[in-house]
Amino acid sequence: MLIDPFQRAITYLRLSVTDRCDFRCVYCMSENMQFLPKKELLSLEELDRLCTSFIGLGVKKLRITGGEPLVRRGIMSYFQSMARHIDSGALDELTLTTNGSQLEKYAADLAACGVKRINISLDTLDEQKFADITRWGRLPQVLRGIDAAQAAGLRVKLNAVALKSFNEDELIPMAEFCAERGLDLTFIEVMPMGDIGNENRIGQYWSLNDLRETLAQTYRLTDLSERTGGPARYVRVEETGQKIGFITPLSHNFCESCNRVRITCTGEIYTCLGQEGKSDLRAPLRDNPHDDAPLEDAIRAAIGLKPKGHDFDYSRQELGGQMSRHMSHTGG
Ligand code: GTP
Ligand code: 5AD
Ligand code: SF4
Repeated sequence: MLIDPFQRAITYLRLSVTDRCDFRCVYCMSENMQFLPKKELLSLEELDRLCTSFIGLGVKKLRITGGEPLVRRGIMSYFQSMARHIDSGALDELTLTTNGSQLEKYAADLAACGVKRINISLDTLDEQKFADITRWGRLPQVLRGIDAAQAAGLRVKLNAVALKSFNEDELIPMAEFCAERGLDLTFIEVMPMGDIGNENRIGQYWSLNDLRETLAQTYRLTDLSERTGGPARYVRVEETGQKIGFITPLSHNFCESCNRVRITCTGEIYTCLGQEGKSDLRAPLRDNPHDDAPLEDAIRAAIGLKPKGHDFDYSRQELGGQMSRHMSHTGG
């Protein structure tokens, strides 16, 4: 069991398998991202070994992220291999967060690997706005991906970053779209990460307290106690029966119940999304190909340094309530 200094059990691993993405969402990447040379990346076999060590140490939920995880070459062989941990019961959930662009191709294979539920990032249902926020993505491709995922029997949750003056006017249309199709929907408060100089995050920040109030003008909302192992809190919309989630790092801090750590595609472990602290797992992994003990020691040591929480704060940006690291580095 992995327990951090604040007595939080770490049971959820988020693994980024690539820093690359076929989109460039403005709040997540800069337009001219310099991607890592491929040789810096952990191999698929190394990713497998790393995850298997975490599972041995008590991780029950594994979420694959990126960049866009499905653009990593050969990624399905990694999923096929990880399926053994679902089959054995060692892992409760194998899942991913994706932009949806490759799902037409991969949804059925993912379902065959024991993936039951996926999260798809989608901030708007307007084709032009979608092209703008992703810098060149095509919405119909993602909509076909959602259809493919549902056809493959995957439960789908859409993740929308709440951005004032961008998707404020789409709150009800998005809720209706999800209700009609049997999709879950979660809103996320935009976090001050990345090229803050170029992007007006304070101006874009839309508190989910306000979003919820707006939603409540149209729907009756009932708080649900059920959770999905991540930070979202959910309501049921009584008129439609659908579930809507809220991820509120700014307006309602949830660090006290944090159960997760992140690994980048080069094998760095970040024990908090909102802090710079990281440790290297690649060296202990690579330098000891036949002995997992040094890797497991390094994992325990890193978790022993997990901070209490983030310092995101739009009211004191010049004091450090922001991060230069891009969200894509750790996969959100
Ligand atoms: P579920 O399994 O459906 O609960 O998903 P999840 O919320 O754990 O994962 P997802 O990838 O859908 O997360 C959505 C977004 O929530 C992330 O991209 C982040 O923006 C934010 N988020 C997730 N975990 C954390 C966290 O530990 N801290 C903070 N500050 N934000 C987080
Ligand atoms: N603030 C909040 N969420 C973000 N994401 C990316 N950047 C940010 C940010 N600055 C979300 C994406 C996606 C997930 C991987 O992270 O929209 O849902
Ligand atoms: Fe956990 Fe850090 Fe996220 Fe807070 S900000 S929930 S401590 S990862």
